[in-house]
Amino acid sequence: MPAPPKTPTLAPSIIAADPGRFAACADEVLRAGPNWLHVDIMDGHFVPNITIGPDVVRALRPVVNEHDARLDVHLMIEEPQNYISDFADAGADTLTVHVEACPHLHRVAQQIRATGCDVGVAVNPATPLGYLDGILPFVDLTLVMSVNPGFSGQRFIPESTAKVQRLRRQLNALGSSAHLEIDGGVSPSNAMELIRAGADVLVAGSAVFGGDQSVAQNIEALRSALTLKV
Ligand code: DX5
Ligand code: ZN
Repeated sequence: MPAPPKTPTLAPSIIAADPGRFAACADEVLRAGPNWLHVDIMDGHFVPNITIGPDVVRALRPVVNEHDARLDVHLMIEEPQNYISDFADAGADTLTVHVEACPHLHRVAQQIRATGCDVGVAVNPATPLGYLDGILPFVDLTLVMSVNPGFSGQRFIPESTAKVQRLRRQLNALGSSAHLEIDGGVSPSNAMELIRAGADVLVAGSAVFGGDQSVAQNIEALRSALTLKV
């Protein structure tokens, strides 16, 4: 198995925080060390849940700026092409769309690129990686869903690890430096395995904002799970 990359990125998913205190929770978690904040946008159509829109992303931007962090926006919405400029204007750094929602994926990627945001593409658990073949050379980030999107706190789908390995091999074969982000059910118990499989960005919602421990303690637990024991 290859050695894990030196600096895995942790991207706490703010949707798992207290909805009445998103900005304060974002500040708390970024204070604990991570320099990405993952924001899940759900429309009640592409996924069976509704979360937040561009105005909340805009409200999070100054907090993210204070910590010199990145705003990683995951669009789980139908017709994402209609909202790219709204989310870019709201302050997203990366905009990730789902291949399942984009019959004209290359056009949407161009549209995101034109806003100046990094381009991300995501695949659901049942979607074969082959759907990414034509777009990989154009993207900055790939996202493997390791739960069926819609809710925080679901159980990790174990087959996702092998999918990460296959995608990492594909990216390497292309000489791509695109991020490989894994999203759903990430916890201290599988974090290292996922980094070893080839992920370099770990999204974590309930493992960061849930449970009895403080956010800082949860971040520390994830961090120590990622520390190589020699
Ligand atoms: C799932 C979202 C995830 C989710 C992660 O639909 O895309 O980002 O909030 O939450 P956990 O880590 O609890 O699975
Ligand atoms: Zn997400």
